[in-house]
Amino acid sequence: MTVQETESFVIVKHPENPETSVTILKYGATVYSWKLANKEQLWLSDAAKLDGSKPVRGGIPLVFPVFGKHQLDTATANIANANDVKLSKLPQHGLARNSTWEFLGQTKENPPTIQFGLYSEIANKELTSIWDYDFELIYTIELNKDSLKTEIEVSNPAKSDKSFKFNWLFHTYLRIEDIEDTFISNLKGVNVYDQLLKQSYNDVQPVVTFHEEVDRVYKNVREDRDIQVVDKGKPIHTIKRINLPDAVVWNPWVNKSNGMSDFEPKTGFKKMVCVEPGHVHDFIVLSPGSKWKASQILSKDELKYQVI
Ligand code: BG6
Repeated sequence: MTVQETESFVIVKHPENPETSVTILKYGATVYSWKLANKEQLWLSDAAKLDGSKPVRGGIPLVFPVFGKHQLDTATANIANANDVKLSKLPQHGLARNSTWEFLGQTKENPPTIQFGLYSEIANKELTSIWDYDFELIYTIELNKDSLKTEIEVSNPAKSDKSFKFNWLFHTYLRIEDIEDTFISNLKGVNVYDQLLKQSYNDVQPVVTFHEEVDRVYKNVREDRDIQVVDKGKPIHTIKRINLPDAVVWNPWVNKSNGMSDFEPKTGFKKMVCVEPGHVHDFIVLSPGSKWKASQILSKDELKYQVI
């Protein structure tokens, strides 16, 4: 059988190679394993909680409606609009990764494709009492022989004039061999916001390398730039983005990993890098009746230097 559903997760196997599979936890609709010919492509912490007690540390957590922690400008906090006040009360990375999604079933035989849905009525009640907008998320996962496509559609079904604004991000944890032998290509010349330095600058480096914690938002990366994770000269992951202008690059390194109780082993930062396609440098505004759609495609392409 291509698709198997249990109480807490769904597993999809490729009909032509059952060792190519994707497994999704209903909590957060979090893809927590993606194997190509039995080789795991994603990083998952040994201490990740898969019981719905907290967002999954690893795989592909979904970030909506806010990336990070939304800060109100203290000077203008008392005149901030309702949208900003509500976003600022949500926990880091919003409510989608801490809600149990509905499994909607298989929508295509080959490539096997399945969908999950999340709506205001079924999302985490504690959080929808803060961010009380009407929303609908339809998440589509397509397992190809050599790639994984994840697509999101966000709708505002409200009848009244209740627009909302949101960020979207696929928080993809990629498995690698050794962070110090790894670089990321095709981001040269992009304007970046460094979350550690709290500064924006133009990244002039030909590739991104890792020798300490890195936490950067690459903004408005041209859609035709394929971001590649390269290990000792070989591309091991290629990330394509559709309607997702930004890419967060994150590795927690030693101190940050030590501070995360669900990050194990503590040396795990050597085996992972997050490349996170999203729309986070500003907000998308959705008026009643409108929709927004975006996707990421993970694959293993040939090495392609588009800019050095
Ligand atoms: C990244 C952010 O997307 O997520 C980092 O850029 C953050 O700043 C990281 O530390 C992990 O976030 P969390 O909430 O899953 O610990």
